[in-house]
Amino acid sequence: MIVTNSQKKKRVLLGITGGIAAYKAAELARLLIQDGIEVQTVMTEAACHFLGSTTLQALTGKPVHTQLWDESVNNSMAHIDLSRAVDVILVAPASADFIAKIAHGLADDLLSTLCLARNCPLMVAPAMNRQMLENPATQRNLTTLQKDDITVLGPAHGIQACGETGMGRMLEPQELFEAVQNFFQPRLLEKKRILITAGPTFEAIDAVRGIINLSSGKMGYALAQAALGAGAEVTLISGPVCLTYPAVKKFIPITSANDMLTAVKNEVIFNDIFISVAAVADYRPAIAHTQKIKKSDNDLMLELIPNPDILQYVANLPNPPFCVGFAAETENIDQNAESKRHKKKLPLLVANLAQEAMGADDSTLLLFDDNGKHILPKAPKIDQARRLIAHIAALHKQHHS
Ligand code: CTP
Repeated sequence: MIVTNSQKKKRVLLGITGGIAAYKAAELARLLIQDGIEVQTVMTEAACHFLGSTTLQALTGKPVHTQLWDESVNNSMAHIDLSRAVDVILVAPASADFIAKIAHGLADDLLSTLCLARNCPLMVAPAMNRQMLENPATQRNLTTLQKDDITVLGPAHGIQACGETGMGRMLEPQELFEAVQNFFQPRLLEKKRILITAGPTFEAIDAVRGIINLSSGKMGYALAQAALGAGAEVTLISGPVCLTYPAVKKFIPITSANDMLTAVKNEVIFNDIFISVAAVADYRPAIAHTQKIKKSDNDLMLELIPNPDILQYVANLPNPPFCVGFAAETENIDQNAESKRHKKKLPLLVANLAQEAMGADDSTLLLFDDNGKHILPKAPKIDQARRLIAHIAALHKQHHS
């Protein structure tokens, strides 16, 4: 049987160092295993004070290595063998001490030694008290890691185990899992800059009310995630949604269509590709009252005025980026999608059935471009996003060759 690249088992070495966040590494291991990724765990001695190696052994189905001097390894070369048998090493959590060791090439335990001896990429997810993180020594070490092509994931801001609040929390297991998934994606958009709009816009009626729609932002955020996985530099402009945004280069939260247009105008010239996923409100109230409108027994008439069409503005720029539009339709999908594509002068328009797609985790996508119609059958939005990014990468290449 021929094993293609996509069928090849993905293998991750999960390194765990000493820190309260070590307990989250168990959840990360579970997510990786569930996704079919092989996980080999190596724990430092300090990590074993926070988390039992048996937990990781049970989750990954493999013995956990903790010792440099392990007599059960036939050739006593665990530090070489382990790092040769994986595609990537992820150390999560990575303590300040461990980061310092890696920055200086120290190798006094199994994990630091195998990191020094590795011939595969290394990613670290720092987790520490905010003061430890802010310390100039740690900052210097993190800069060294980045210069050495080691990927630093996070850290995030939030409440810390010590009770203080600030930067230094480890990224959540789901975010680290997504970073690993991204690592395994083909780099179809390496160094390309992509601007994405996502979510609904909110058009104020008064100080406490407004017009909004059912867009959850899931498709736009999945596309941002998939574009990152393809190696792109992503700017995400988002209306109000209840999602954690992926580790994009720039995240710009906005409220109304006019805010979104301003943000797009500021960013668009720096980008090669524009993907307009946002469900932009077509109209806004003529007057946004600054105070709450009081109830009365009379009818209340709202006058609505048209919003600017952001995608149309971008597509009609003298030197536009490669523009991709979305169309949420409730009927006559093919007809409406094609006429929208021509009206807005788009090389690619992605249509879906609004009733099925809005707020859902799965969707069916219909792609319309100069070659005709392509169907991406119903699948989770992150899978659809990856397929769509592959399609966009191919078309973008054609356009520029
Ligand atoms: N769009 C936009 N600005 C608007 C309205 C829409 O940028 N004011 C973009 C959307 O992000 C999407 C595409 O245009 O990529 C199509 O949006 P859609 O709401 O499906 O179509 P409309 O052009 O608004 O037409 P209609 O609402 O009549 O279907």
